[in-house]
Formats: sequence, structure tokens, C-alpha cells
Amino acid sequence: MAQLWGGRFTKETDQLVYNFNASISFDQKFFRQDIQGSIAHVKMLGKQGILTKEESEQIVAALREILADTQAGTLEISPDYEDIHSFVEAELIKRLGDTGKKLHTGRSRNDQVALDMRMYVRMEVVQTDLLLKELLGTILQIMKAHTETIMPGFTHLQKAQPVTLAHHMGAYFEMFRRDRSRMRDIYERMNYCPLGSGALAGTTYPLDREETARMLGFYGPCQNSMDGVSDRDYAIEFLSALSVVMMHLSRFSEEMIIWNSNEYQFVEIDDAYSTGSSIMPQKKNPDIAELVRGKTGRVYGALVSLLTTMKGIPLAYNKDMQEDKELTFDAIDTAKGCLALFNGMLATTRFQKEQMRKSAALGYTNATDAADYLVNRGVPFRDAHGIIGRLVLYCIDKNCSIDDLSLEELKAISPVFEADIYDAVSMETCVNKRLTIGAPGKAAMEQAIAQAETYLSKEEGLREDWEE
Ligand code: ARG
Repeated sequence: MAQLWGGRFTKETDQLVYNFNASISFDQKFFRQDIQGSIAHVKMLGKQGILTKEESEQIVAALREILADTQAGTLEISPDYEDIHSFVEAELIKRLGDTGKKLHTGRSRNDQVALDMRMYVRMEVVQTDLLLKELLGTILQIMKAHTETIMPGFTHLQKAQPVTLAHHMGAYFEMFRRDRSRMRDIYERMNYCPLGSGALAGTTYPLDREETARMLGFYGPCQNSMDGVSDRDYAIEFLSALSVVMMHLSRFSEEMIIWNSNEYQFVEIDDAYSTGSSIMPQKKNPDIAELVRGKTGRVYGALVSLLTTMKGIPLAYNKDMQEDKELTFDAIDTAKGCLALFNGMLATTRFQKEQMRKSAALGYTNATDAADYLVNRGVPFRDAHGIIGRLVLYCIDKNCSIDDLSLEELKAISPVFEADIYDAVSMETCVNKRLTIGAPGKAAMEQAIAQAETYLSKEEGLREDWEE
């Protein structure tokens, strides 16, 4: 047991209490942010004359060594300390003696942990943005290759109207583009520095909070010290945005699973992204898509957990807040893993164009266009709807599609039909006449693709800019 606060106590902490309270098993994840925050703090203490120049330089140098040794694996983070802050401070004292004991001047673990967590989450917001950008790149490639790949569009999972694969993929492009813009929003709102908030009421030392905020790549310091130590809104916002990302990935996964089934055969997921069965030799299962769908619940769970943890906490810091870490870390690792794997799976999936086209052609997806044909020749829409309904029933009976019927058969149902009906209800016509903004017609899609390309090349990724 190694802790920073024995002075006031007359008894050793009970071992079970110690274990229950300790956080080093998980907060070591942000050792880099912890040391970086300390370096900025100590540099500022030196500039302000709170520590001497020499003390400050000595501590900064030793902290850099600790960081390098930890990264190189020559210094192991010992589980015998209560938390990562205690470990770093103890290691510093081992190396510098009394000078090391000055590290924590004008600081509390409350503002320290608030800083570490915020910097860690900021880094992950940036990384998630990058993964989303990569996924968007893959989706765009598919869109470009498939502006003429006709497939059925569905509502209620029933074939509805023909679209193209480019159009279907374009819907996901929009979803993940919005997810990226959520990352930017979160970054903009969260990028304020809690360091210098102290335990809750600031400190009596003349800290330069602007300076530490600048060194650590923040826009500026948080404006209220009580809020600074107890705000976890940014983590909640991030978990919420990750939940939306997972919801999108899960819907997409569900489609990949359906499309990969023997019944649909719209896609073939690559062998490298499929798994087999231990008993049924013929099986090739879409496990990655299923796992992405399955892991969505974990991320939602983290969001609800943290919201619940925070809802009853009086100002300012309370130990409940230590619960923000494990679930946030798990949700981040889960969502990032899913983004990377889904992207790899999508990039290697083969799209079975013929099968998609056949499915659209055999599903009466041109029925709306057949009704529109009659409307354009003077039949009121409601009557046209009824006529085509009877036509579809006739086709179902004959097990054929609308354009398989002879003109005599068509005329028997409505004399308005002429020979040009065949062209009017061809899959290509149905798709390419849909030219309004956002529709699947080739010309409309090409505009959407050009716009998406501009967005991907112009929209700069998020960055963290801190001073090493
Ligand atoms: N491990 C703590 C956390 O994650 C660090 C802050 C501890 N502060 C305190 N006053 N006990 O929240």
C-alpha cells in the first residue's frame, strides 16, 4: 500500500478498503497525459517563481525521464500505488529526493485527474474522427464504383423501389459525416483546461492558468474551479456520440448480415473477415458484423452508467467520479475497434451486382413507375394505383415481372398501355429519372459524390497541439 495522505490517520487502511478505493489498475492508461500535465504545471511554477528555476528544470527533466522509461518499458507502473498520480510522484521523489516533493505545489488530485481524463478523452475524440474519416473514404470508393449497380431499396424490409448501391452507401456516408461533425462539436466545447482549479476553490499561489492551458493545447482555462474539477459533460457527450456511431455501425452490420445470407447473396464478405462452424462444414459466418452489432449495447451501457453516476453528485469532486474511467475506456476501445474492423470488412466485401439487379427486377420495384406512366397519360393517380395493384396480382399469379407481360395482356388490364411502357418501367429508367437532389439517378448521384469528395479532401481532421 502506497498512498499520498497518511499524516492525519492513526490506523492503516484496511486492505479491502484500499483495494476498493485504488484506481491504478485502470488510470495508468493515462500515464502520458498525467506526466505531460505535471510538466506543464511545473514549468509554470518555475516561470511564476513559485519554484526556483533550477527546481522546476530538475523536476521537468526527471518527469521526462520517467515518461521515457515508462514508454520504453524499463519502468513498470507498480500496482502497489493507489493511483497513477501517486506512482509518478513517488517515482519522482525516488529520483530527486526533496525537490520531487514540490511537484504537487498548488495542485490537487482533483484538478489533476480532471485534466488527465480530459486530455485522454480529447486524444480519443481526435482518433475517432480519424477512424470515421477512413471509413468515409471506403464508403466513397464503393459509391464511385457503383452508380449503375441497381438494387432494390427497401421499406419494412419489403422491396420498394429500385435504387443503386451508390445511393444506399451514400446514406451511410451522410450518417458517418454527421458523426464526424459531432466529434468536432465535442472537441470545441471540451477544450478548456481544468488545471489550476485545485481541490475545488483554486489556490492561493499565483498560478498562471492561461499559460498551462496554452502549453497543453487548450483554448484557455475553465472559468469556474468547482465546475473545473467536477465537469464530466464532455465524457458524457463523447459516449453519446459514440453511441450514435455504434447505432449506425449496427444498422450497417445488420444489412451486411442480411445481404450476406444465402437468401439474398447481395454481398460476399471476404474469407479474412468471416469465420466457420465447428460442426457444419459449409458455414461461413459474418461474425465481425454480428459482433459489431452485439457490442453496441456495451457502449450504450457506458453512456447510461455515467449519466446515472453523475446525476446525484453534489458539487464539487466526489469519489463516485472515479467510475467515469473504466466504462469510458471500455466504450472508447470498443467503438474504435468496431470502426476499424468494420472498415476492413467493408473494404474487402464483394458486391454481387447481378444478384442485386435480379432482386430489384423480380420484386415489382417498378410498380410506382408503372402507375406514374398511367398518370402521365391522364389516369388519376388513385385509379392508376388500383390498376397497377391488379397488374401486380396478375403477375404474382403468373410468377413473372411487369415487363414480362405482352402488350395484349397489359392492354387487357388498361387500354392506356402502349409499347413505350417497357422502356418506362425498365430498372434503368426507374433509377435514372429520379434526379432531385439526394435521389439515386446517376446525374444526381454524381453530384453527391463530387460533394462528398470535396468534403473529404477539404475537411481537416482534428488535432491535438500540446507542447512536449
Ligand atoms: N482516482 C481518483 C479519480 O479517478 C483521483 C482523484 C482522487 N481525489 C480524491 N480527492 N480522492 O477520480
